Amino acid sequence: MEFIAAAAFGLEGIVKRELQDMGMEASGDLGCVRFSGGWEEAFRANLWLRCADRVLLVLAEKEARTFEELFQLVKNIRWEDVLPVNARIPVTGKCVKSTLMSVRDCQSITKKAIVERMKRAYRVDLLPETGAEYRVDVAFHSDVCRITLDTSGDALNRRGYRTWNGEAPLRETLAAALLKLSPWQKGRGERSSFMPLYDPCCGTGTLLIEAAFIMADRAPGLKRSFAMEEWQQVDKKMVAHLRREAEDRYRPENISGISGSDIDPEALKLCKKHIVQAGLGGKITVYLKDLRELNVVLPERMETDIPEETESRAVPGGICFICNPPYGERMSDRRSCESLYKQLRKLQGRHPGSRLCAITAYIGFEKCVGARAQKKRRLYNGRLECEYLIY
Ligand SMILES: C[S@@+](CC[C@H](N)C(=O)[O-])C[C@H]1O[C@@H](n2cnc3c(N)ncnc32)[C@H](O)[C@@H]1O
Repeated sequence: MEFIAAAAFGLEGIVKRELQDMGMEASGDLGCVRFSGGWEEAFRANLWLRCADRVLLVLAEKEARTFEELFQLVKNIRWEDVLPVNARIPVTGKCVKSTLMSVRDCQSITKKAIVERMKRAYRVDLLPETGAEYRVDVAFHSDVCRITLDTSGDALNRRGYRTWNGEAPLRETLAAALLKLSPWQKGRGERSSFMPLYDPCCGTGTLLIEAAFIMADRAPGLKRSFAMEEWQQVDKKMVAHLRREAEDRYRPENISGISGSDIDPEALKLCKKHIVQAGLGGKITVYLKDLRELNVVLPERMETDIPEETESRAVPGGICFICNPPYGERMSDRRSCESLYKQLRKLQGRHPGSRLCAITAYIGFEKCVGARAQKKRRLYNGRLECEYLIY
């Protein structure tokens, strides 16, 4: 079977590497990373991908310019091999640069074709739609229609610990990508080592919690379920085995040196709640603090924890500051954001050997702080085009 790990623009390369680290061959662009395999590979991808949004099973992919072509394309899929007679079949859709422009019409034609095929195959007059959910997506791009089945259910950024997102949340998938692109982690797998990590605008704690998951080798999907687990063709023993394997790999004792602060007491309250709900109580320290007055003192243990071969050897005690500061989208907020960005650079200056990583939709961060970033990358936070800068 062919699967797509759907990802935000700019994250395809990271998702591809994540799949390769699981031993799968993957290729991708334009928000899609393709891989092939069976249900086991699909479940492993759902359980372990940190930076992808969904795992989709590709059922058909072909040019279609008329509703009739769409209808025939969908009707020719052997739905009876995939869906049980009582499947619930919601249909979602999108159309980009295509002759067929009406998403609603494409959705209803797709549904009609599925129902017609299923009724004939199962010899029934009515589909009860009372069973497990099989969400079908019809996606048009430049007149190519792709029909997929969503194996994930809730989007993969839902890790199962978050009750409330705060005012300006950062998706967990993007947070994981920011960490992977930062100098915080050196090497991969068992050989990786970590610098102390500090988020001076930690808000509800997304970056800190993702960092702890990475450090502890915790599968991001360990505490949630996936749509495919309810499907009759997916082997329950395989699912239980992969879940057990993930439990065995989880090493909370490996978490150290992750901390943060925020100026907003409400955000901090949520952050503490999320840390506990993520099962990380006592593993991450957070403070109520204005970053303008922040001086991070590392416990001695952290400084000696940094292995010699890492880049941080030349800068003992170096901290990796990582943050998603306010973007100042409204003109009235721009001034205060600019002043905050300058303070971020000053914060780095007060901590010799530290690195600073910040994502912002404010174009002109470098000019504002008066220094060019060592690395810069274009990423999307939802629909907002952002720059991720590393100093
Ligand atoms: C975009 S939000 C960060 C959201 C966060 N990544 C999360 O996962 O919830 C920006 C955060 O910066 C904080 N902030 C703004 N000014 C600050 C300052 N001077 N010192 C510390 N934190 C500040 C805000 O309170 C807010 O929580």
